[in-house]
This record gives sequence, structure tokens and C-alpha cells, in this order.
Amino acid sequence: MRKKEQTIVVEILDTADKNRCVGELKDGMKAFIEGPAAVGDTVKARITKIKRRFLVARLTEVVKFSDRRTETRCKYFGICGGCKWQHLDYSEQLRVKRKQVVDALEHLGGFENPSVAACIPAEEKFGYRNKIDMDFTDQRYLTRDEMNSPAEELDRPIDFALGFHAPGCFAKAIDIDHCDLASEEMNLVVETVRIFFRDRKLSTYSTFNPDGFLRNLVVRQGGNTGELMVNLITSTHDAELMNELCSALVSALGDKLTTFVNGISTRKNMFAFNEEEYVLYGEGTITDRLEEYTYQISPNSFFQTNTEQAEVLYNEIVKQADFQGSETVHDLFCGTGSIALFAAKHCGNVLGIELVESAVADAQKNAEAQGVSNCTFRQMDLINFGKIREELEDFGLPDLVITDPPRAGMHPKAVQMLRELAPPVIIYVSCGPASLARDGQLLCAEGLYKLVRCQPVDMFPQTNHVESVARFELM
Ligand SMILES: C[S@@+](CC[C@H](N)C(=O)[O-])C[C@H]1O[C@@H](n2cnc3c(N)ncnc32)[C@H](O)[C@@H]1O
Repeated sequence: MRKKEQTIVVEILDTADKNRCVGELKDGMKAFIEGPAAVGDTVKARITKIKRRFLVARLTEVVKFSDRRTETRCKYFGICGGCKWQHLDYSEQLRVKRKQVVDALEHLGGFENPSVAACIPAEEKFGYRNKIDMDFTDQRYLTRDEMNSPAEELDRPIDFALGFHAPGCFAKAIDIDHCDLASEEMNLVVETVRIFFRDRKLSTYSTFNPDGFLRNLVVRQGGNTGELMVNLITSTHDAELMNELCSALVSALGDKLTTFVNGISTRKNMFAFNEEEYVLYGEGTITDRLEEYTYQISPNSFFQTNTEQAEVLYNEIVKQADFQGSETVHDLFCGTGSIALFAAKHCGNVLGIELVESAVADAQKNAEAQGVSNCTFRQMDLINFGKIREELEDFGLPDLVITDPPRAGMHPKAVQMLRELAPPVIIYVSCGPASLARDGQLLCAEGLYKLVRCQPVDMFPQTNHVESVARFELM
């Protein structure tokens, strides 16, 4: 009779959803293992949940290491939720990323043998991020060793942290010294800001303290331009303090610093969003370049977080779209218009739609600055179906729609709108295989569309995230 907390030994046979691996016990019971395991490992794991046909257990020790593993290099590996797959050899990461897409399309979307190509790899496996987003907390996440040490022996306070949350632990953050996915300059910003605030005993935002002063630090650096933006988000603006921080940043970074913005947010969530902005240094924006296009990026605007792979992704979108030269294209969830600009030279005209006002303004400026005259951008909420339909019809019904929603996917009303617009081709760009599968199933309901092919692209090496470009055709 198995019990919770009991230790089992199991060989890992495959990967499963929710970032788990799976093995089988001698009696045929399936064991889903949480924690950094690899296919081919034999592991010890402690049972956390028992069901009739399967159990869930937490990895405690690797007894035999799989040859699909590699050395990890980050001291926060296993605690930080960022690089969950740093222990996997890169070819294994690519294999599992493709498998995630196939599994989601088959099991969640009901697609039979979907045509999913091998995942396109990234050149840079570390230091590729052009944006990092950290939170301030007054509860530093402590390792087991630290928990067992007296407070005076710890090398840093326990009531301050600037970093990432441990998975499932929203109140606490790991005080991150160095992130291997960010550049040296971005890491230097984090260190400068940490040292500046660590001993000042300022309040930090949390659900228990929604008026807390310190909220988020967002650092962006153009992958192809090197331009560096520091956006510190607080609940109010303290001019004297911000000027002092500005001097600290300038003296640490010199001419590497392009702009420093103090964003103000009073929202009751941890999401980094500037409701108001005070620009203390530079212009308040940075630029990045993708092939021949230069993009202006404001603090609130979305821009793909891996510049090098954004070029690969956008070329893949153009390839999948197979433009004939005169199409009317709608680019939904267009952000700063980066896909629209890539598509513009291959088609007739493009209408970009985006919720965030500053992103729409950036998109318009970006098109004008490159002399691209066949792109129009509109600020609209894609849930607001009635209003959008009219605008879309005014612009011209699409021959092709590119849709690139946030990870959660499209609102069912927006998918329904697409079904009613019924463009001959839809290119669905997704960073969430489950939402691609769900929305794809809705698009294909009653045989309206068919999924022709799907191309996974690795935008985020070392993590369990995968981007895909899927082509749907009207039947
Ligand atoms: C994954 S990003 C894609 C951005 C852009 N296509 C690119 O590649 O840079 C998703 C975008 O959808 C926007 N968005 C989120 N919800 C929206 C909504 N309800 N209506 C319109 N746009 C929305 C976000 O602001 C963000 O810019």
C-alpha cells in the first residue's frame, strides 16, 4: 500500500504536461515526477499525491544520470522558475519543445497527426534576453541552508529582495545576483539598483501591502543596438530619491545607459505597467533593430524578448504566409508593429491592431521612420467584437490574418470574429501550445479551417517555453 511522503525509485521514460516527467512502477502504476528530471534518469522521488491510476512525486535524488543531461551553470537552478531546462542537453530541449506542441495539438486540440516540423534552434543559448523584469519584496526566499543559519550569519538581509519569484511562491523573491539569460550591462543595472535600495528600509508592494513603494524593475537592452532602458516602477514619484538613483546608474553605467524612467503604478497586481511616467535620463524610449527595420520601444510596449530569434520568427511568419504581393493583411495583437513591418513589403497593405496605446504610437512612428506607407495601426481591444468588425470592414476584409496573442491565447469572442471574417489564411503565432491547440480547435470546428502545418521556434533556450507559427487554411 503506497502512502504520501513515501519514497519511490523510478526510471524516467518520457516527458509529460505541466513540465513533469513520467515513469512506470513495477505494478504498472504511472508516476508523474516534478522537478528537474530527464528521460533516461533513474530517480528517487517523494510521493505528494495518489490517485487510482497514477501518482505524483517530487524528485529528491538522481540515482542514475541520463546522457540527455548537461551541466547546469546557474546557482539558482532548481529554485528559480526561469531556466527550468538548464539541466537538459540543447538537442533534448529542442526535442521536448516540439513534443510539447505535438502533444498539445493532439491531446488538447484533437488534431490527428498534426504536421509539426523540428524546432528551429537558437544560436545564442545564454545572454539572449533583451528584457528582464524583477520584483521587489520584503520577504527574501531562503535556501534550506539559509533557513538553518542564524540571521546574523547571512550575507544579506532577509527582509529585502530584488529578483524572480520561486515557482508558486508569489510573496517571496530570490535575491538574484546574476541572471545568465541577461547581458552584463543588464546585470550591472540590477546590482546597482539592489545596492541602492537594500538598506533604505522602504516599503515594498504586495497583496498585503498594496500601497508599498517599491514594485518592479524592468531592464531592456536592444539586442542589435545595445541601447539600455531602466524602468523602475514605484507607487508614487519621489523626485529627490529618483535623482539620486539616476546619479548612481550614470556613475555605474556611464554612456551605456540610454534612458532611465520612473514608472508609477497603483494597480493591485504585480504586473509591471506604467500608469504614469517620469523620464529622468534620456528620451524615455530605446530602439532595437530587426534586419533593416529600426523599432522605437516605450516602457509599456511589447517587443519580442529575444532580438536574434525575433528575426528568425518573423521570417518564418513571412514564409508561412506565402504572400502573393497584393493581399490585405490584418495583424492582430500587433504590439509595436514589428510583424506588420516585416510583412509590408510582401503584401498590399496591413492593418495592425493593438490594445496598448503607447505600442500603437510606437508602431505608427516605426512605420513612418522606415518610409513604410502601407501599414495602418489602430488602438482597439480585440474582445470588443462589435466595434472592431466595423473598423475591419472599413479597412478592407483580410485575405490573410496574422494573430499573435499573449500566452493565454485569444478570447473566444475574438476567435469567433475570425471565423466570421473567414480569411482564406490565418497565421497563428503562439507562445503557448495549449492556447494554440484550444483556439486552433475552435477555428477548425465544423470543418471551417484546417491546420496545414506548424513550425516551432526556440525563442527561449534553457526554459520550457516554445513559440510556434501555425498556418490554418479555409476549407
Ligand atoms: C505576444 S504580444 C505580440 C506583439 C507583436 N505581434 C510582436 O511580435 O511584437 C501580444 C500583444 O497583444 C496585446 N494585447 C493583449 N491583449 C489585447 C487585447 N485584448 N486586444 C488587443 N491587443 C491586446 C499586448 O499588448 C501585446 O502587445
